[in-house]
Amino acid sequence: MKIKKVGVVGCGFMGGGIVQVSAVSGYDVVTTDISDDAVARGIAAIKDRLAKKVKKSEITQQQVDDAMGRIKGSTDINVYRDCDLVIESVYEDMELKKKLFAELDKVCEPKTYFGTNTSCLPVIDMAMATSRPEKVVGIHFFTPPPLMPLVEIMESVKTSKETMDMAVEFGKSVDKSVIVAKDTPGFIVNAQMIPNVLNAVRMVESGIATAEDIDLGAVKGLSHPIGPIALADFFGLDVLYAISAHMYEETKDPMLKPPLMLKRMVMARMLGRKTGKGFYDYTSKG
Ligand SMILES: NC(=O)c1ccc[n+]([C@@H]2O[C@H](COP(=O)([O-])OP(=O)(O)OC[C@H]3O[C@@H](n4cnc5c(N)ncnc54)[C@H](O)[C@@H]3O)[C@@H](O)[C@H]2O)c1
Repeated sequence: MKIKKVGVVGCGFMGGGIVQVSAVSGYDVVTTDISDDAVARGIAAIKDRLAKKVKKSEITQQQVDDAMGRIKGSTDINVYRDCDLVIESVYEDMELKKKLFAELDKVCEPKTYFGTNTSCLPVIDMAMATSRPEKVVGIHFFTPPPLMPLVEIMESVKTSKETMDMAVEFGKSVDKSVIVAKDTPGFIVNAQMIPNVLNAVRMVESGIATAEDIDLGAVKGLSHPIGPIALADFFGLDVLYAISAHMYEETKDPMLKPPLMLKRMVMARMLGRKTGKGFYDYTSKG
């Protein structure tokens, strides 16, 4: 089946990015969030990002107008009824995601495929909340979706080949490289990245090196574009904590155990860039 109409549940940081890349790639897109304000904020952010692209001559005003014309925002889940594909990008909370998929399953036509943008939760758990687990697949974008050139597709034990083929084609159609993973903790990218970042946090915790030197070592010594500590601050220490705690819970791999220092920083709301302070200080004073 050719995908024409895409739904994106949750027009937040990641969902808004998925709406944007889908609309720019020519899909009709419907998106919902929990309030009219949240929907308006999400769509305004897309408009701002696209306006910046026009200024940099990366896209024309006509392309922006066309893309924005293809996006419809709502707070009503029924807008997903005739979508070919619905991707959820709500909070990383399994109970919320399962409840949402059960509702989508009732609302959507039998043809609709479901994707989840989860960072680490098992796809199969969400799939089993629906009556169509063979049509549920992981479609994991990277942050921020308009800039990061990769999509990771995750196959649960129930995902059909037809669904996998659809998801791979969809990823390519939004101009991303596509990698395919099994439904295992951290899939491909987080399974590599999380132990590396946690190891760097442990090095700070035990006083082996400063955050600055660890990051400089990774950038200058390993040619990484950003060091692991700066990366942790960028995506948020609460997100790092939640992903690693979940991966540790599933695997009991000591490399994935969240360090105590990370837990304490999360308790102190030192979450990185988003709260102005994490391992580094992002306030104007700092
Ligand atoms: N932030 C990242 O770096 C990143 C990277 C890859 C994947 N992810 C995953 O993407 C998902 C979303 O993360 P985010 O960073 O965009 O979070 P976010 O908080 O920016 O966005 C989540 C949005 O979902 C909305 N929402 C919550 N419940 C809803 C419901 N029932 N119906 C409609 N909307 C609802 C919220 O209002 C919010 O706007 C998570 O599963 C996360 O693990 C995040």
